[in-house]
Amino acid sequence: MDKFRITGPTRLSGEVAISGAKNSALPVLAACLLTPEPVVLHRIPRVRDIGTMRRLLQHNGATITEREDGALVVHAAEVTQPEAPYDLVKTMRASSLVLGPLVARTGRARVSLPGGCAIGARPIGMHVTGLEQLGARMEQSHGYIEATVPDRLRGCVYTFDRITVTGTEDLLMAAVLADGETVLENAAREPEVVDVAELLIRMGARIEGAGSSTIRVRGVGRLHGAEHTIIPDRIEAGTFAAAAAITGGEVRVNGCEPEHLTALLSKLRHAGVTVIEEGKSLLVKSSGKLASVDMETQEHPGFATDLQAQFMALMTQAEGISIITERIFENRFMHVLELARMGANIRVEGQRAIVAGPRRLTGAEVIASDLRASASLVIAAQAADGDTIIDRVYHIDRGYEKIEEKLRGLGARMERIEAK
Ligand code: EPZ
Repeated sequence: MDKFRITGPTRLSGEVAISGAKNSALPVLAACLLTPEPVVLHRIPRVRDIGTMRRLLQHNGATITEREDGALVVHAAEVTQPEAPYDLVKTMRASSLVLGPLVARTGRARVSLPGGCAIGARPIGMHVTGLEQLGARMEQSHGYIEATVPDRLRGCVYTFDRITVTGTEDLLMAAVLADGETVLENAAREPEVVDVAELLIRMGARIEGAGSSTIRVRGVGRLHGAEHTIIPDRIEAGTFAAAAAITGGEVRVNGCEPEHLTALLSKLRHAGVTVIEEGKSLLVKSSGKLASVDMETQEHPGFATDLQAQFMALMTQAEGISIITERIFENRFMHVLELARMGANIRVEGQRAIVAGPRRLTGAEVIASDLRASASLVIAAQAADGDTIIDRVYHIDRGYEKIEEKLRGLGARMERIEAK
């Protein structure tokens, strides 16, 4: 397994370009199963989870070609295998995103149930009950969810018990081909949901309200091909902003959407970081002197859980006590013990982590436990004295495109030690 060696401390400076959003690209790729015509996608990030989704679509019968300009062309002329096998689902839970599209397009789907996960239980019960409301017969056997629809899905009113991002996307993708109107209440408002809805509208779907808690869909008989550019990755942008801030650096984060990051930017400003929004760029400047701020993760437009670990790394260097409350996942503090190995003073009490700072960080051997936890270790290592060795960086490769190249471009001393 590859490792990173990061030598700190470093003051990051320069410019970095943000890639397409992984969490948008995943449902957008799944949406390509809804039409027999080719869909052209721009700015799909080259990360491991996307590789997994591509393999899944190919398994379903789609062909995927890469154009010279980097665009991906996904063509699901026929769906021959409406199934997401265990081998793919176990490495990427977002595989359940094909459930809605497969059942809407072919009338059946067989998707392996995701198992446990480093950040919590992560059930997909609402994907299942939602499809049931849309008229699918859902059964579970041998670790698989099986969906069948005798004729065509039919519109319904479905209220999510709690907000789910991929659940909203999955049901939205099913509803676009259903007979009649579907209303999704208490829907997720994440920018990634809006991005998928925009592609679906380009494909001929009739959707209103994406980005609000109520999404209305009028089903159509078929969808056609389309061309779409994925939104920039707000979590990657936020990760670089936090990295700049922890090092007392000055970094211009280019090609991002500051509007998708308002909660983080507000917290950074409260912590004493200068953030200047310039169109699709963010200039992040810090003297290195940070004030502690409390933070609670919430659904969008609240503070993203996917930036909690990175913000915690930053707070280890802030003056005073910062209370970080995780409200989305029950077990998303795996990075705490690793940050502690580097010298951070953090105590966990249930859903809250209490960070006392600033504490001098020193390089240590640490283990990446999930994607965003790895990002927090990479950030902390920039501020730590000496060498930090981060093991299991395959987690970070799932969601960050060329992270070491991008950080080295900002002056980081970082190398990948490849497994023999
Ligand atoms: C999406 O996961 C993201 N993944 C996650 O990104 C992100 O952390 C999460 O949303 C929250 O923002 C993708 O978009 C591919 P949820 P998702 O369903 O959709 C509970 C990353 O690092 N729940 O919104 O799987 C669930 O347990 C990641 O890129 C149910 O109880 O998350 C959680 O507590 C990891 N029943 C909460 O809802 C259900 O049927 C929110 O989860 C579904 C969810």
